[in-house]
Amino acid sequence: MPVGRGTVLIGGGTGFIGTHLCKLLQSKNYDVKIISRMPGAKHMTWHDLEKYGIPSGTQAVVNLAGQNVLDPMKRWTAGFKQNVWNSRIRTTMSLTEAIINTRERPKAYVTISGVGIYKPSTSVEYSEDHQQEEFDFFSKLCIAWENSAKLPENVLDCRQVTIRSGVVLGKNGGMIKQLYIPFYLGVGGPIGNGEQYLPWIHIDDISRLILFAIETDGLKGKLNGVAPQVITNKEFTNSFASALWRPAVIPLPKSIVNFIFSEERAKMITEGQKVIPKRTQAVGFNYVFPDINSACEELVQS
Ligand SMILES: NC(=O)c1ccc[n+]([C@@H]2O[C@H](COP(=O)([O-])OP(=O)(O)OC[C@H]3O[C@@H](n4cnc5c(N)ncnc54)[C@H](OP(=O)(O)O)[C@@H]3O)[C@@H](O)[C@H]2O)c1
Repeated sequence: MPVGRGTVLIGGGTGFIGTHLCKLLQSKNYDVKIISRMPGAKHMTWHDLEKYGIPSGTQAVVNLAGQNVLDPMKRWTAGFKQNVWNSRIRTTMSLTEAIINTRERPKAYVTISGVGIYKPSTSVEYSEDHQQEEFDFFSKLCIAWENSAKLPENVLDCRQVTIRSGVVLGKNGGMIKQLYIPFYLGVGGPIGNGEQYLPWIHIDDISRLILFAIETDGLKGKLNGVAPQVITNKEFTNSFASALWRPAVIPLPKSIVNFIFSEERAKMITEGQKVIPKRTQAVGFNYVFPDINSACEELVQS
């Protein structure tokens, strides 16, 4: 039985995915309450959460808070890395603690993590069953992020689901927002040789997957939030450029990407993982945009 309509509390609900998710939830008659660093109508702050706990009537809690890692205006310093870390781990820990301490438990707790938990490779195929190991900053971050969402075993009345999201493709944010103008001007192209995998998901599907996790009774654990069609960066480039009727022949050299983002962070785009949504499909989630061409056609519609 699906969870009845009620309040969904969303940490970081003001962001790219959060805004889209809020609209979807409201269209399904859920009431949405956002936790933000900024107070406002329908918002509570992280401080409010610490002080007052989970609002009464909350049916589900979602955390989408996180400092934008690929902000080209921010240098990859120790201070910025700390921000990237704390904005995910501390917010998730605050929500986990608030759920543990509330008397009126939400039915579902959905958090996000990244495909950076899987080691970039050109040969290994990663499903949710893959044993995680720490090998760099992002894998450590994802493991700590997922661990901070774990509820103790004696909390039996709240299901916890973690979605390991690929790159989210949507008109109003994320990667497409950064690529739209260069591709529109015909100066877009693959990153490096373009052979690296690009685990991706359309914004409608990641929002629907979060809703699915909220509403599917008995569902808990890890889900790969990626589309079933595995593609490389070059395949994405060709699909997006064709949808815009533009050429995409000018590659962006890896050295420039390393220079802009610094090598450790640049790996997020210069390397990739072959990730398949094995469990996500096994539990019955259906995609609206399972292939990159249909996704790109939608992305270029005004
Ligand atoms: N977009 C993607 O392609 C993608 C892929 C994989 C995983 N994810 C993860 O999914 C989550 C949501 O992604 P998104 O693209 O929607 O993110 P986003 O738009 O960049 O940001 C989400 C929200 O996080 C909050 N935030 C930003 N910096 C923060 C900080 N230093 N401390 C606390 N909160 C902070 C902001 O809310 P307030 O300003 O209201 O506080 C912001 O609206 C993130 O954790 C991201 O890492 C995203």
